Amino acid sequence: MSPVDIKDLDLLLEKVYREGGYDFRGYRRGTVTRRLEKRLHATGRETCQDYIQFLDTHPEEYEKLADCLTIKVSGFFRNSYAFHQVAHLVLPELVSEKRRRKDRSLRVWSTACARGQEPYSIAILIAEFLGCERERFDISIYATDISRTALKEAEAGRYSPKEVNGLPKTILKNYFSHADGHYQATADMKRSIHFSHFDLTSSPQPPFMNLDLIFCCNILIYLQKQLQEHVLDMLYRSLRSQGYLILGESETLPNSLRTKLSCLDTKARIYKKVSVCF
Ligand SMILES: C[S@@+](CC[C@H](N)C(=O)[O-])C[C@H]1O[C@@H](n2cnc3c(N)ncnc32)[C@H](O)[C@@H]1O
Repeated sequence: MSPVDIKDLDLLLEKVYREGGYDFRGYRRGTVTRRLEKRLHATGRETCQDYIQFLDTHPEEYEKLADCLTIKVSGFFRNSYAFHQVAHLVLPELVSEKRRRKDRSLRVWSTACARGQEPYSIAILIAEFLGCERERFDISIYATDISRTALKEAEAGRYSPKEVNGLPKTILKNYFSHADGHYQATADMKRSIHFSHFDLTSSPQPPFMNLDLIFCCNILIYLQKQLQEHVLDMLYRSLRSQGYLILGESETLPNSLRTKLSCLDTKARIYKKVSVCF
């Protein structure tokens, strides 16, 4: 039997929100319970109630709990099919529209960037697509996450051979330097990426507007339906008319947004904001 009683869990999440400043109340209970059990074990507590008392005398535990509840598994070009389709479906359309309108800006948001593999993959994809035309574009990739530890590592851009395993040799050569047995993202690639802290679920307003492309991958799966809708509604507002939204491979849109975002590729979870006429 789980040491986590559902009523105690509600009490705990309320306390974590009020006193620790982290809002996990709308996260899926199954994942939260499994992860919380790890902290119970690590702190030597038997039940959720014991853990609630433990938090009173060990406030530093809030951050450890938050870190444990946020799953940071990621990888370069994690959903390879989606990245392939972004290169073959989204970027050609987007870039030719930009050329037509003589608009040289490209604004992209990686909404839960974890340790940075996603925004670096996006930077590589765009650079490979534009080739020498890249210099003529003003590329901004905003990369945000709730985890400050993950963001620090993302900003450092240092990866083990295992983490870059699978990247083609030419990509490694052109976008990373190799030293001390690690691969370091080049300063040139980093220049277009702006890392910052942002909590997708607690903030009513989007931090960026008029975006061309948003990646919201493998974060919605941890949230309850209502919270997923709240996040997606905010992302919808931050997309420009005819901007693109990419979800994780097992994530989907709520009914309320299906007429506002048309699906370009069901398998790659690529959506396009329907033209907004004023
Ligand atoms: C499984 S990783 C996904 C990383 C990347 N997007 C990918 O698909 O590989 C989930 C990330 O979501 C972040 N996260 C969880 N809750 C969040 C929130 N409320 N706001 C922003 N990021 C959040 C976690 O810290 C973690 O880095």
